[in-house]
Amino acid sequence: MCNFELLLINEKAKMEDLQKLEEEFQARIDRGEKIEPKDWMPERFRKQLIRMMSQHAHSEIVGMLPEGNWITRAPSLQRKVNLLAKVQDEAGHGLYIYCGAETLGISRDEMIEQLHSGKAKYSSIFNYPTLSWADMGAIGWLVDGAAIVNQTMIAKCAFGPYSRAMIRICKEENFHNKQGYQILWALCKGTPEQKEMAQDSLDRWWWPSIMMLGPTDKDSPNSKDLMNWKIKMQSNDTIRQRFIDRTVPQAEVLGLKIPDPDLKWNEERRSYDFGEIDWEEFFNVINGKGPMNKERLQARRDAEKNGRWVREAANTYYKKRKEQAA
Ligand SMILES: [Fe+2]
Ligand SMILES: [Fe+2]
Repeated sequence: MCNFELLLINEKAKMEDLQKLEEEFQARIDRGEKIEPKDWMPERFRKQLIRMMSQHAHSEIVGMLPEGNWITRAPSLQRKVNLLAKVQDEAGHGLYIYCGAETLGISRDEMIEQLHSGKAKYSSIFNYPTLSWADMGAIGWLVDGAAIVNQTMIAKCAFGPYSRAMIRICKEENFHNKQGYQILWALCKGTPEQKEMAQDSLDRWWWPSIMMLGPTDKDSPNSKDLMNWKIKMQSNDTIRQRFIDRTVPQAEVLGLKIPDPDLKWNEERRSYDFGEIDWEEFFNVINGKGPMNKERLQARRDAEKNGRWVREAANTYYKKRKEQAA
């Protein structure tokens, strides 16, 4: 037997082994078992998870910027403390998910580099400006609200660290959601100008919020794999519908009007029908052409650069302490 034939036999055996491993892996997922970082997993599974988790962590961190913008302008000390705590929570969510992603064999530095170079994406919603105090309400109510619907599903996903992170994060997101709603509640019960400010905010944030749940199922190329692997438990369109159904009655309680003339209750489906989403706007924002894309990325790059000396000093201090202890 020549070398070439031997090589072919070896390759075939490797392929069969791989196929067997993949079948066992899928069977574990189908049985509802959690996959842990040290378990065998297909390379595509690892890559998709890294993409999804890093994108999620980046969104938490970039998401601090639009709200951070209002900390110094909150209308009372209590509002300032609440907003500060909320923005700090988002930093915690980011760190938690970065740590989860690191268990898959990528470093934090690599993920940050991918964000700064534009290779990694983050949620489209954070590329819109925050123009009034009411926007702090709309973000908590709508953006955190949409995130909850999505993240409650991820809490049931097949990857252990991601699923466990979501259980804790969702509890905090619920608090953010109520805090946002309460800000709008106060404005809607206030002067006509305050109510107008709340309506203007809803008008600007409604469509971006329902877009942020991702492209429609037919334009979501990774969905099939992600759903087979139970990384994604429900499709973007299903999650979007659930978000709309739970949010419309809340707008009615506030006395605000959702800016969609085609929105109406469908008795047969027991759900709301809604108007056409402007997907061109969504893909423009995702691809860097939203109103605040440049500012957001620049703010993150500046933060990395300006904070470098702090990280270096902390590392040097840690090393010195370790040497002293030794
Ligand atoms: Fe968060
Ligand atoms: Fe949040």
